[in-house]
Amino acid sequence: MQVCATISETRTVCRAARGDRKRIGVVPTMGALHEGHLSLVRAARAQCDVVAVSIFVNPTQFGPAEDLSKYPRQFERDCRLLEKEGVEILFAPAVEEMYPQGQVTWVVVDGLSEKLDGRTRPGHFRGVTTVVAKLFNIVTPDAAYFGQKDAAQLAVIRRMVHELNFGVEIVACPIVREADGLAMSSRNAYLNPDERNRALVLHNSLRRVEQEFGEGERDAKVLISSAKEILAREPQVRVDYYEIVDQDTLDPVERISQRALVAVAAYVGTTRLIDNVLLNV
Ligand code: PAJ
Repeated sequence: MQVCATISETRTVCRAARGDRKRIGVVPTMGALHEGHLSLVRAARAQCDVVAVSIFVNPTQFGPAEDLSKYPRQFERDCRLLEKEGVEILFAPAVEEMYPQGQVTWVVVDGLSEKLDGRTRPGHFRGVTTVVAKLFNIVTPDAAYFGQKDAAQLAVIRRMVHELNFGVEIVACPIVREADGLAMSSRNAYLNPDERNRALVLHNSLRRVEQEFGEGERDAKVLISSAKEILAREPQVRVDYYEIVDQDTLDPVERISQRALVAVAAYVGTTRLIDNVLLNV
């Protein structure tokens, strides 16, 4: 695996692969890798000749009161995991490499960026789309792999790719969960054992929605209130949002007549977790 800290080195390696007519797949990450990330790497590995992974804790997508400074960083371990998966290129730039003079150019997906997580985290998606656009320009991948776990992020990136005509295929990969159902996340490391147990209520509430939907309920309000009843059993878990939306526009739906996204964000202690499920009609 070639570890590249600079943009120019990454460009050189990717250009060579492109010259050899190799299909390049990229997996953008912020590191602290878990099985969720590795599932994206494996999907890329299966579909591409060259797999490039990026590890970059992107400061522009963190709000001033958020966890940028304490975000888990485990570079050596991440490298070992990626070596094992047969990754060819690891792009791991320093902040100064990605943002040498600060940044006054931004990629903003208007409207979509203010929904779901974007409402609670102003500026978050602007940071995400800007860094992902930079990454696409550096690596020039054929395909990019993202997790369904961050469903709003996926919608925002798809829209950016479509409207800015990036020639990159966006591949969405299913949510990878712990054995008991908790969605894997680098932020799960913040949870103490008690919070870790309580955090399960997110998944359990989504399962309740799936169950009622399976029994024929189509009214979003009814489904959400059942989910919130489950969540209320854990008073220490504070809901940020619980919504049923169109998976592309992220606009709320009232009656579910086509595929819909049920998305939840909640604080478990001080840790903000997200999870979601897709309902298929
Ligand atoms: P990060 O949180 O490290 O996630 C990197 C990728 O892994 C994202 O596409 C995310 O959806 C996916 N992922 C995380 N947990 C997952 C799980 N349990 N199952 C499946 N996929 C999972 O998302 C980011 O980083 C950043 O915003 C980034 C896109 C890298 C831009 O900075």
